[in-house]
Amino acid sequence: MSENNIYPVFDRIKTREDKEKLLQQKSKVIWITGLSGSGKTTIATGLEDILSKNGFVTQVLDGDNIRTGISNNLAFTEEDRKENIRRIAEVSKLFLNCGIITINCLISPTIESRQMAKEIIGDDNFILIWVNTPLAICEERDVKGLYKKARAGIIKNFTGIDQAYIEPENPDLTISTEKDTPEEATEILAKYVIPLITYTEK
Ligand code: ADX
Repeated sequence: MSENNIYPVFDRIKTREDKEKLLQQKSKVIWITGLSGSGKTTIATGLEDILSKNGFVTQVLDGDNIRTGISNNLAFTEEDRKENIRRIAEVSKLFLNCGIITINCLISPTIESRQMAKEIIGDDNFILIWVNTPLAICEERDVKGLYKKARAGIIKNFTGIDQAYIEPENPDLTISTEKDTPEEATEILAKYVIPLITYTEK
């Protein structure tokens, strides 16, 4: 290491276990994938409300927010999306080591990019949730008016229009906001997640 002039001090800082004990929770990364307008953010903030009420410390990392800060130099090319996802995965890992549960909402449109995130974060720490709202419904809702702009060619590389969204093959949980209301979907997600983040003494 010293030939790079860096001197890591991993052995001198408090461990993840110390912090999980302090917070009385197990940290995980809840990675929510889905099209723009599929309901990821609604579900993530709803989940955060439920988890907070149950005493869990969480942090939502939302693509739209992240792109105003740490990823503000990135666009929507395949390469830039990959870099965006890599950065969020690394940030999530810092939270993970701090004992904090992150709830990430990113389109993360490809199998490779989600796989990369999982590898950075670690298999055991990564929970993949797919908000499976069909394109036609996202486009009909068009909450941000972006689908209209993409169809008109004003925005390029828009997911679902002129760039692909590849559906996850093995998500830990699939959410349908067609079948369930957002509130019901959030409840289902909370029921799934709570046992995984509940503290147990080693
Ligand atoms: S990701 O592909 O890199 O995971 P991310 O979740 O950060 O995407 O950002 C998606 C958000 O950016 C969308 O919800 C939308 O508001 C906005 N956006 C702007 N341009 C695009 C685009 N070309 N494709 C998809 N989303 C876009």
